[in-house]
Amino acid sequence: MDLHARRADSFGAQAEAYAEHRPDYPVAAIRWALEPLGTSERLDVLDLAAGTGKLTAGLVAEGHRVTAVEPNEQMLSELVRRVHDVRALPGHAEHIPVPDSTVDAVFVATAFHWFDQEKALPEIARVLRPGGVLAAMWLETEDDVPWLKDFQQVSNTSVESQRQSPVKIMAHPLFEAPEHKIFPHVHRRNSPEAAIAWINTHSRMLVIDDEERAEVNDRMLAFLRERPETSNGPFDVPMYSDVFRMVRVSD
Ligand SMILES: C[S@@+](CC[C@H](N)C(=O)[O-])C[C@H]1O[C@@H](n2cnc3c(N)ncnc32)[C@H](O)[C@@H]1O
Repeated sequence: MDLHARRADSFGAQAEAYAEHRPDYPVAAIRWALEPLGTSERLDVLDLAAGTGKLTAGLVAEGHRVTAVEPNEQMLSELVRRVHDVRALPGHAEHIPVPDSTVDAVFVATAFHWFDQEKALPEIARVLRPGGVLAAMWLETEDDVPWLKDFQQVSNTSVESQRQSPVKIMAHPLFEAPEHKIFPHVHRRNSPEAAIAWINTHSRMLVIDDEERAEVNDRMLAFLRERPETSNGPFDVPMYSDVFRMVRVSD
């Protein structure tokens, strides 16, 4: 298995910690993504690559009928354990286990960069009704905050961060050009240890060897315990959500 495939499949090893420590998504981003549908009624929404349900829970809370699709068994089990009132199915973006034209919106949170876009885009178009929406979103840490900038240096590993911002979404004849919007967000951490637990759920941390991981964790802990912004009790990690929405046109 090549590194990309290993990383795409790495998250299940830390599924419980993932559910515990990864951030959720801003509600405003969900609402903006659904705006082209022109209604706030209950919609049929698919959370593709749903993981442990960090976004799924937000979609359910907004009152939508949600189907979550996720290939990794441990991630999907964690989702089922934590998020109720959702239909959860095993499956990949390149082969979605849902009938044609049955979904109003497909959300993809922090996962589009793992897909084979040439296969996934027509597959997403297949399950969407004409006029439906594809929303691809990511969460990023703010880069103009001095302590976070320094922390990023300290947390570097021999494996690069996967995502290059912004991810290029291929043009596809069944989708209008993407619209883009940024939403501010924060990720509250109660302690330096909780921040480190969050960083350890990223694929670049999951695929390195134990020795390197221990070194990086020691470095991060020393840094966070020293910095006044993070050493004393709870702190907020300033983040933003990068959202792209694309309307599916008629065939
Ligand atoms: C970083 S996690 C994001 C999970 C969740 N959407 C969230 O925001 O927390 C990436 C997820 O993509 C899933 N994934 C990787 N390759 C995939 C593919 N080809 N199709 C569908 N899901 C995939 C992984 O199993 C993992 O759960």
